[in-house]
Amino acid sequence: MPTIIDGKKISAEIRQEVKTEVSEIKARGMEPHLAVIIVGSDPGSQVYVRNKHKACEEAGIRSTVIEMPETTTQEQLLAQVEKLNQDKTVHGILVQSPVPKGLSEEKAFESIHPLKDVDCFHPQNVGLLMLGRPRFLPATPAGVIELLVRYNIKISGQYVVIVGRSNIVGKPLAGMLAQKSERGNATVTVCHTGTKGLAYYTKQADIVIAAAGRPGLITGDMLNSNCTVIDVGTNRIPDATKKSGYSLVGDVDFESASKVAANISPVPGGVGLMTIAMLLKNCVMATKLQS
Ligand SMILES: NC(=O)c1ccc[n+]([C@@H]2O[C@H](COP(=O)([O-])OP(=O)(O)OC[C@H]3O[C@@H](n4cnc5c(N)ncnc54)[C@H](OP(=O)(O)O)[C@@H]3O)[C@@H](O)[C@H]2O)c1
Repeated sequence: MPTIIDGKKISAEIRQEVKTEVSEIKARGMEPHLAVIIVGSDPGSQVYVRNKHKACEEAGIRSTVIEMPETTTQEQLLAQVEKLNQDKTVHGILVQSPVPKGLSEEKAFESIHPLKDVDCFHPQNVGLLMLGRPRFLPATPAGVIELLVRYNIKISGQYVVIVGRSNIVGKPLAGMLAQKSERGNATVTVCHTGTKGLAYYTKQADIVIAAAGRPGLITGDMLNSNCTVIDVGTNRIPDATKKSGYSLVGDVDFESASKVAANISPVPGGVGLMTIAMLLKNCVMATKLQS
């Protein structure tokens, strides 16, 4: 049986650590404050925003949710971000993705003040990250690395295969893991839909990180027996047995992969819970940067 990498346990530890740090910051007279802008009524986004709000409150971080209607114009969205940029009581700003069609998410992300960019999506912060001088760490990639570190899974010198090259997961994670740093120093291959023979790469990997958004893409026969598998995938599939009508599954076929891998993270209960915990850490960092 592989070791199951328990995101629930590790994220709870991190949230407790953040809570302690927030108390210390408050004792110095500051109150960390995250403002989240949500435009429109995408049900998935509303759940994410509610979860972030709840997690902030539990950690002692003030959280303000600004709901804007589906009909919001780009100018109105940018004006709202600017208002928060100018607000000295706000330390972190998020624009919940996706924004409704017709609005530019990129322009919204780029309008956030870099010191308040707790998602680490601003080009200045992405640039600093790639240069090995991070201001913030993007939450999901940081959550993946935190799981590896807290489970004492060696990263340095290991061969890591990342499946997926998105701007929010695959690309920053590749940059972070390849960095000459304590939590990096790995040899990294990034696979995508242009990769010929995905299994050729995954079979050689010490660590496979799946972030493709394709249920069951990685199966046990694509892995070697000493590997670690981190499943970032969060896919909703119809499930009539569930009250919600769907189940959450990853990109890894857990049943076959868990017969081969040495360590594996489940979905749910793996990376997903880490993302919010790492966001809370960024809120604390943003508060310190602005004090
Ligand atoms: N746990 C969390 O907190 C969290 C956070 C973010 C995302 N996610 C989940 O992670 C998954 C990926 O999200 P994302 O936003 O990074 O995805 P994305 O923007 O849709 O990108 C998917 C990437 O996977 C690659 N890909 C798709 N199918 C593939 C295949 N059959 N073989 C090889 N590569 C393939 C794509 O290649 P091309 O570039 O060639 O198209 C693309 O680079 C989703 O399930 C998402 O819900 C979870």
